[in-house]
Formats: sequence, C-alpha cells, structure tokens
Amino acid sequence: MPIIEVSDLTKQFRVFQRATGVMGGIKNLFIRRYEALRAVDGVSFSIEKGEMVGYIGANGAGKSTTIKMLTGILVPTSGRIVANGYVPHLDRKRYTMGIGVVFGQRTQLWWDLAVQESFHLLRKIYDVSQAKFDERMEEFHEVLGIGDFLRLPVRKLSLGQRMRCDLAAALLHQPPLLFLDEPTIGLDVVAKESVREFLRKVNRDMEVTIILTTQDLGDIEELCERILIIDKGKILYDGSLEGIRNRQGREVSLTVDLKEIPPVAALERILEGNGIAWTALGGRRFRAKFNRDDVATAEVVRKLAGAFQIHDLIIEEPGIEDVVRRIYREGSL
Ligand SMILES: Nc1ncnc2c1ncn2[C@@H]1O[C@H](COP(=O)(O)OP(=O)(O)OP(=O)(O)O)[C@@H](O)[C@H]1O
Ligand SMILES: [Mg+2]
Repeated sequence: MPIIEVSDLTKQFRVFQRATGVMGGIKNLFIRRYEALRAVDGVSFSIEKGEMVGYIGANGAGKSTTIKMLTGILVPTSGRIVANGYVPHLDRKRYTMGIGVVFGQRTQLWWDLAVQESFHLLRKIYDVSQAKFDERMEEFHEVLGIGDFLRLPVRKLSLGQRMRCDLAAALLHQPPLLFLDEPTIGLDVVAKESVREFLRKVNRDMEVTIILTTQDLGDIEELCERILIIDKGKILYDGSLEGIRNRQGREVSLTVDLKEIPPVAALERILEGNGIAWTALGGRRFRAKFNRDDVATAEVVRKLAGAFQIHDLIIEEPGIEDVVRRIYREGSL
C-alpha cells in the first residue's frame, strides 16, 4: 500500500486583476475583478513507503502549493490526498503528529528562543520522552553538528546552521513522512553536502519517506531515484532520472585535438552515414556530435584513431542541467 496517494489534485487561487493607471487605481477601489489561477491542475501520483522523491519544476510551477496541500496547510479545490492513512486537511491534528516539514525559506523554530528551548517545546508538543529526546539529539549532533549552537537564539544562526536545526526539529518525533520545500536553498557546498548526507541517512536507516522540492539538481542527482516534474500545475514526468536522460535522445559530444589539421570533409568521410556532425573549433580541435543509438562511441573513437593521430580527447553527455533546462523551457519532454 502506498504511503501517499494523490488523485486528480487541483488548487485554484483567485487572483485579483489590478487595473493600471490613475483611473485604474480608482476603479480598483470599487470593482474587484478576479481571475482563476490553477496552480495545481489535476495532479496524480502515489508514493511507496521508503521512497525519496524529487518534486521539481520551474518557478511558479506549483511545487510549494502541492507540498502545502500534502501537509494539510492548504485545502485542495478538488481531488483527493490520502497520506499516512489520513486526509491531511481534514485530520490535520493527528496527521501532523506523523509528518515532518521543512520550508527552506522560513523556519518553524521560535525566532527569539535559544535553539534548545525550541527543541524542548517541540518535545512537549509531540510528546517525546526525555530519554528518546536525548538519544535523538545525540544522533542529530553527530550528523548535523547542531550541538555547537544550541544555546544561540535562532535569529543569530547563519542560514546553514538554521536549516540544520530545522531538519532536526522536523524529525524529533520520528515521523514516517518528511516534506522538504527547498531544504538546501542558500547553503554553501559543505553545508549542502552535510544536509544531503543527513537526508540519505534518514531515508535509509530510519526508512523515512521523503518528498523534496529543489532548484538544485545536484540534490536530485545525489538523492532521488525517482522524480516528478511539474509544469504549470501538471505532471510532465514521473520516473527515474536516467529515464529522462534517455528520452532526450542519447546525444554525445566528442571533442578531439589532433596532431594535424585535416579538412572537415576528411573527418566526415570516416564514419559516413551515421549522422555524425563535425565542427572545426579552430586549430587542431574538432567536435563531433552524434547519437549513441546510431553509432557506438567506441566505434567513433576507433575509426578516428585509425585515420588520424589523436593528441587528446573529451567525451561528454548532456548534463542533467541541460536536459531539465530544455524541459522547463519547452514545457514538454
Ligand atoms: N496564496 C496564493 N494566492 C494566489 N496565487 C498563489 C498563491 N500561492 C501561490 N500562487 C501562485 O500559484 C503558482 C504556483 O506557485 P508555487 O508557489 O506553488 O510555485 P513553486 O513551484 O513552488 O515555485 P518556486 O520554484 O518559485 O518556489 C504561482 O503562479 C503563484 O503565483
Ligand atoms: Mg516554491
């Protein structure tokens, strides 16, 4: 049985249409015109226990709105969510006892309290025993190193320190479900790595099911076997990272430095009919672009080496950034 089941989920906002100019300003006072905006538009997916799923999409695609509905903060316009056995917005109180939530953009800790005070309050709210609490704090300190700033008020923490505290706070009560909305936003490379390491551990050792949104595709590459891509409120893709790479065609770019300068036509002749496009990049450097489905990379290299003396060679595949950029831009796969 999936731990999260979402069917045909829609969230519509009423957005105020503002008229411009002086007359418009006056009009705005008397006539309010609203337009419907479908931030989430018929989204369906299900998530099994223990999965770590990346929920990605361009700015404004509907990620945060989905997460807010999944956590019970927003009420869906239509459609249905069952998570951890509850309908989030209906069973809010009981449901929230079994989930952890981190919104990278803002903290759930009390701004003026020392971190440890916030944790003590959360311990009470979630009814965690002192022994369990101590044990968990020990664990969090080991991986996240939060012990060093427990005495500081939250407002004095750096972004990275605060994020680590927020993560610990979200997991204090050992929820089976964790929702993260941009948990690595603004973190430096070291802090990012420790957050990722922590999430891996939480997912693997504690079997916490995790859904995370992020603009950092490094998070996805390092953490998620499965991704959902949302665009203008609709799910464009549900599958593995490898899956979208393959769908995009398996284009390879091969750059060679030769010991001579042959005409491009000479290069074109060696593997004719395989759809290889050659470009002279200046000097002894040439680039071939081809599709791995049409010709094997090894074959190209072998023929090339048979005909010319190669000084250096670089083989590149489009990175996940390239692939995803194209999807965001075109709104299709
Ligand atoms: N409370 C609201 N009232 C009206 N419109 C809203 C509200 N919240 C979100 N929206 C709109 O819904 C759309 C989706 O917003 P959402 O915050 O879900 O995007 P997102 O995918 O999280 O984007 P980002 O990557 O920028 O965080 C946007 O067009 C946004 O302006
Ligand atoms: Mg968002």
